[in-house]
Amino acid sequence: MLEQDMTQILYTSDQIATRVAELAEQISRDYADTPPLVVGILRGSIVFLSDLIREIDLPIDLDFMSASSYGSTTSSSGAVNIKLDLSQDIRGRHVLLVEDILDSGNTLSKLIPELKAREPASLKLCVLLDKPDRRVRPVTVDYLGFSIPDSFVVGYGMDFAQRYRNLPYIGVLKPAIYE
Ligand code: IMP
Ligand code: MG
Repeated sequence: MLEQDMTQILYTSDQIATRVAELAEQISRDYADTPPLVVGILRGSIVFLSDLIREIDLPIDLDFMSASSYGSTTSSSGAVNIKLDLSQDIRGRHVLLVEDILDSGNTLSKLIPELKAREPASLKLCVLLDKPDRRVRPVTVDYLGFSIPDSFVVGYGMDFAQRYRNLPYIGVLKPAIYE
């Protein structure tokens, strides 16, 4: 039913699971002595996050935040709109931010300095997908699932107009749907 809205399945659930397990293994190794506070950025990261944390073999903490950038057309204030903030102080914590997809970089390039100002012991970024061709502002990714070409993708947490988040795979949406 939903699959007919896709031009292509970019990654199957098996392919995603394999990559997520690899990322989790790397994270488990890197944070062995410093279990992280894993911060999911709502809402797109939730499917990725829930698979990822179940493969991390460490006593992690979990928190969430939700943010949106004002976009490149408005203001030069550099402000990020935090719609839901963390429920705790991150000073001295090892924070691992988890996001679904890095596109222009507008949101994260503003959110990361904001979080660093709270003086965490460390702050790293884990993203499932990166669209490097779309980057406007530089963002350093520490753990990356897949680098993809510039196309609009949905599924595995990612939406178009709040739909398709529940697809178990990552698909390319038919342009006719959003044009
Ligand atoms: P940006 O990096 O600030 O441009 O914004 C990244 C956010 O835009 C992501 O967290 C997604 O919510 C959304 N986004 C960007 N590209 C896509 C896509 O292909 N599908 C679904 N959401 C996307
Ligand atoms: Mg998002």
